Amino acid sequence: MRAKIVVLPGDGIGPEVTAEAIRVLEAVARKGGHVFELSEHLMGGCSIDRHGTALTPEVLAACQASSAVLLGAVGGPKWDDPAAKVRPEQGLLGLRKGLGVFANLRPVRVHPALVDASPLKADRLAGVDLLVIRELTGGLYFGQPKGREEKDGHVRAVDTLEYHDYEVQRVVELAFRLARGRRRKVTSVDKANVLESSRLWRQVTSAIGAANPDVALDHMLVDTAAMRLVAAPASFDVVVTENMFGDILTDEASVLAGSMGMLPSASIGAGGPGLYEPIHGSAPDIAGKGIANPLGTILSAAMMLRHSLGLEAEAAAVERAADAAVTDGARTRDLGGTLSTRAMADEVLRRLAS
Ligand code: IPM
Ligand code: MG
Repeated sequence: MRAKIVVLPGDGIGPEVTAEAIRVLEAVARKGGHVFELSEHLMGGCSIDRHGTALTPEVLAACQASSAVLLGAVGGPKWDDPAAKVRPEQGLLGLRKGLGVFANLRPVRVHPALVDASPLKADRLAGVDLLVIRELTGGLYFGQPKGREEKDGHVRAVDTLEYHDYEVQRVVELAFRLARGRRRKVTSVDKANVLESSRLWRQVTSAIGAANPDVALDHMLVDTAAMRLVAAPASFDVVVTENMFGDILTDEASVLAGSMGMLPSASIGAGGPGLYEPIHGSAPDIAGKGIANPLGTILSAAMMLRHSLGLEAEAAAVERAADAAVTDGARTRDLGGTLSTRAMADEVLRRLAS
């Protein structure tokens, strides 16, 4: 097959980890006779430095015209001034909105060989295999009004948690569809005891649950979910939730897997190009050292093969190769080892070729 893939390496360790995922995609293309046309663009802090904005209209248009987008990470101390008008994260949020990718899929599995890399007790981690579906283009990140005003010598700052019924419906329906390929259990996470938007979320979700009795649905308050995620993580199958609740819960869930560096994500919408990125950030403290774990990005590329390019066998092959590398003891520093970013990717590539 032919596919246009836009690569946005971004900032910090972003360029280092995307370079390795590209090598994996090239290997997949060679092996399967596919043609992936890759083009790299600036997005994030690097784009602010060059163009004064985190996401130019040209780069957004290139992403919209692609089959899929692979992203490294954005941000860093250089652009962290809270008074700044332009911020790297605006590029990421603009891209998510501009691509209409309303569902962010964050699978969390505990590799048996990495049980000791997690601070949690091993018996808690047995059988952990969950999929968090984070609503990505609404909620607290995008609600209006948003901003500041000065009045009577005081500053007032506002963010709004806003949802339309159809925004809840499309992401929860996707959660039910994906649950059918898994253990058929959906946990909808909200704060319905306090928030009106959560009461709407719960109503819409309950109606979908009633129409789909083959999937078990339960509702959980977000504070309880935060506690259960570490107390009984294996009890979850599919979790679906509001944008910021999902942001927070997936950082928490990454601890189960032993390292943030392991976890991929896929952001998908209603059939346009998907956006694929590791869940970790730009890690400025280790940027440029060649020691970041590339597996989160390589596994994100695997999700791209599956969800945007329809190459399920190739996706599974990449996942098996990454799995086998870890089983055989390949470890970057975040996992307690000494392998470089490049050497870790080599371990995956070698197994992919055999
Ligand atoms: C994530 C990140 C982003 C988010 C930041 C960088 C804006 O934390 O993808 O989880 O909050 O969505
Ligand atoms: Mg986050």
